[in-house]
Amino acid sequence: MGRLSGKVAIITGAAQGMGAEHARRFIAEGASVLITDIDEERGTALAQELGGRAAFTALNVASEAGWAAAVALAEARFGPVTALINNAGIIGAATKCADLSEDEFNKVCAINQTSVFLGTKHVIPSMQRAGGGSIVNISSISGIVAIYGTPNVAYAASKFAVRGITKQVAIEYGKDGIRANSVHPGYIKTKMMTDALDDEGIKIASASVPIGRVGEVEDVSNLVVFLASDESGFITGSEYIIDGGLTAL
Ligand SMILES: NC(=O)c1ccc[n+]([C@@H]2O[C@H](COP(=O)([O-])OP(=O)(O)OC[C@H]3O[C@@H](n4cnc5c(N)ncnc54)[C@H](O)[C@@H]3O)[C@@H](O)[C@H]2O)c1
Repeated sequence: MGRLSGKVAIITGAAQGMGAEHARRFIAEGASVLITDIDEERGTALAQELGGRAAFTALNVASEAGWAAAVALAEARFGPVTALINNAGIIGAATKCADLSEDEFNKVCAINQTSVFLGTKHVIPSMQRAGGGSIVNISSISGIVAIYGTPNVAYAASKFAVRGITKQVAIEYGKDGIRANSVHPGYIKTKMMTDALDDEGIKIASASVPIGRVGEVEDVSNLVVFLASDESGFITGSEYIIDGGLTAL
């Protein structure tokens, strides 16, 4: 028996990076997983790699119609949804506030923040049918503190908002057996990080982390599996920082 045996999960932004690792771990722990992403090629390939308990559907997390279709597909294929991992996100332009366009601000908020509202809204009836579920919202340490030297007010706004949505949903649906928690990674080695930092930048980032390294996707999956599993059954409305001690400084 895996730690997620019988769970039905939707994971967003799961074609690569942390989301792909979550999908791999969820399958290994016995869950059925609907992998979703805008990257159809990588998403389809991952679902094929993971076998019969995995499926892929294209989902732009900022689309409400897309969410309704994805939840219906997950239910039809695997049964009512019992885990939602709101992982998809973009970093947006590293631009100081006075130079940031409204369009860029709204784009980042739509993908990082409105998506979490939409996914939660559409999954809750399915979780109620299942008798409960776990929502894990991937925020950032940018949802806990401001990051000096990295101008990005849209990312900060959206990631702080994810923390707020999480707490409110947790108290609204606790009696339905639906839990919601947020995860706040620091530097994690994915394409998002390597797009933002060159090798020298990663070295500097590693040196700034008390544990002495940047995080790996597996570090975050360990936490996400725990939060999706019944092992965390009394945990809701909480925020989990996973940053090697960076924000403890
Ligand atoms: N990597 C880090 O250091 C780090 C740190 C803190 C938080 N995070 C957060 O973790 C999450 C995952 O990040 P990652 O590093 O794995 O990123 P990544 O860029 O490697 O992967 C993100 C995935 O999201 C998908 N995506 C982008 N826009 C989408 C949309 N509109 N709809 C659906 N899918 C979309 C991409 O196609 C990609 O597959 C993000 O929410 C990110 O903000 C990352």
